Amino acid sequence: MADDLPITRNAASPETAAAIRAAVRGAVRMGESRLAQPGDAAGLFALLSDPLVHAPIYSLPRPLTEASVAAFIDRHLAERAAGEGLLFVREGEGGQVMGYSDVQVWPDWGAGELGGALHPSLHGQGAGGRGAAASFAWMFEALGLGLLCETAALTNVATQRLLDGLGFRRMGETMSTRPDGTTRASLVWEMTRAEWAARHGFG
Ligand SMILES: CC(C)(COP(=O)(O)OP(=O)(O)OC[C@H]1O[C@@H](n2cnc3c(N)ncnc32)[C@H](O)[C@@H]1OP(=O)(O)O)[C@@H](O)C(=O)NCCC(=O)NCCS
Repeated sequence: MADDLPITRNAASPETAAAIRAAVRGAVRMGESRLAQPGDAAGLFALLSDPLVHAPIYSLPRPLTEASVAAFIDRHLAERAAGEGLLFVREGEGGQVMGYSDVQVWPDWGAGELGGALHPSLHGQGAGGRGAAASFAWMFEALGLGLLCETAALTNVATQRLLDGLGFRRMGETMSTRPDGTTRASLVWEMTRAEWAARHGFG
């Protein structure tokens, strides 16, 4: 997360913020993905080790090791307990981790952000676009968020096309800070629940 996100800041009521935290604490699945557990460290590390997966993503641990991925999973379980974050993995046949989703939530702004990746064997076939759309709808509906705020590297054309195609509004640029303190310029998009409903509907 960047410190200056979300860009649009409408304070959620205390009741709404509490309901969002409760929904995050109670979440166990998002579509075909399940919560990442400590035992997923090796499988998730194997997915993330490919530069086609990790290079565009600023929020992943650096250095990337099985131990740092285990700590990444633990941190998300603590965020879930606080009602502020969720980490999901999607398994393929045989239990290989074929994708992950990182949900970060700002309950007091009623807002959230989705990050993630698919295994390179699945890239460029529409699975990312379909999965992201289902995940965004879930974040509005199951978590009760009113705003989604997304980022992508200036060079990440697939994610830019995906977000533009779903109707997210471009909000300019920000500087994203990696876990090792280095920074990366990011484009920013936002979409409100009302905008999502008007364009895609729910259910
Ligand atoms: C980003 C990612 C999830 C997208 O999933 P995907 O299944 O590859 O994407 P899709 O096939 O659904 O395509 C989405 C859009 O990107 C375009 N696209 C896909 N691969 C592309 C590529 N290599 N170069 C340019 N555009 C590309 C598609 O044409 C489509 O745009 P369109 O609807 O305007 O035609 C996936 O590529 C990935 O895991 N990348 C590595 C990690 C990452 O970048 N994560 C996102 C940042 S948090």
